[in-house]
Amino acid sequence: MSENENTVRTKSIVVLPGDGVGPEIVAEAVKVLKAVAVKFGHDFALQTHLIGGAAIDATGRALPDETLAACQTADAVLLGAVGGPKWDALPAEQRPERAALLPLRSALGLFCNLRPAKVWAPLKEASPLRPEIVWGDEKDESENGIDMLVVRELTGGIYFGEHRRDPDGQAACDTMRYSVPEIERIARMAFKAAQGRRGRVTSVDKANVLETSRLWRETVSRLQRDEFPSVALDHLYVDNAAMQIVRAPRRFDVILTENMFGDILSDEASQITGSIGMLPSASLRGDGFGLYEPIHGSAPDIAGQGIANPIATILSVAMMLRHSFGLVAEAAAVERSVGAVLADGYRTADIARAGETPLSTAALGDAVAAKIK
Ligand code: IPM
Ligand code: MG
Repeated sequence: MSENENTVRTKSIVVLPGDGVGPEIVAEAVKVLKAVAVKFGHDFALQTHLIGGAAIDATGRALPDETLAACQTADAVLLGAVGGPKWDALPAEQRPERAALLPLRSALGLFCNLRPAKVWAPLKEASPLRPEIVWGDEKDESENGIDMLVVRELTGGIYFGEHRRDPDGQAACDTMRYSVPEIERIARMAFKAAQGRRGRVTSVDKANVLETSRLWRETVSRLQRDEFPSVALDHLYVDNAAMQIVRAPRRFDVILTENMFGDILSDEASQITGSIGMLPSASLRGDGFGLYEPIHGSAPDIAGQGIANPIATILSVAMMLRHSFGLVAEAAAVERSVGAVLADGYRTADIARAGETPLSTAALGDAVAAKIK
């Protein structure tokens, strides 16, 4: 895509605020997106649609056809979060998670979920880990902190296998299945991501027990030999990986793993960088289209109070600019603004230091938008 196409064509973005803190954090990310449009002279056409519990309440369905159709014709989707206690009592297959989020990922073919977890210099103390584990020897502040990318397979595995309860209700099963092409396409994304980073992939599985993991390990190893010999590859069992992420997190560059392991390890990775409220994600399929969402979910316990951290969603917008629109300078501008705001001491409650008065969601969003340049 030429520079010209990038700047001239209107990008159509579907905005799905969803439930819980979703609407609050999405509003701040949209503010930042609009600030980018003004500063850099872009035209983003935004249209908002219903999803999740909010859609159930309004239409009776968690993923209305109209919402899916809008996503299918958009250039990118920005999602807040779905789910909450109000809809928890619904039968499993009608809950917002199972009836909206998973079918949306699957219908859009978004098999590749990127979840970068890095520690921001001003938030070094927010990590529950000791400073030397988070940051290393302090000699080179810019390079040494935790900086990993979890590449999570998103449309296969146990999430999408058969879920069944015996007729008497006394036993249940969930099936994990992976095919070679499914493993190859996600592994390729991970190897390519590593080529643009520190050149190292750690593939995480449970090959000492699971057959899907044995196939995973064989396939990833073969692909590395045949297509990515310059990328360093190692394999860890998922239990060991969970341990190494808190013991020596700076050893990780790209972590490649299947759907459920990636769900679990990305929450762990987020916490050691300070707050789950900081972590963005991109769900991709390799053609530029993407769905962007914070990894934290709807946080019903703090919804409606205006105290949620909007940074994960704002950084998801940066990922959208980079991955879907190729607007690298604009993405960097958003990330720089977040860094500058943190350096200036702006904090929501989840990252505030003892004795500090935390800012509201909107005040933090305003601060980031004001610094876009
Ligand atoms: C995530 C979430 C979802 C997942 C839930 C809400 C279904 O935890 O995006 O990590 O498990 O994928
Ligand atoms: Mg999760």
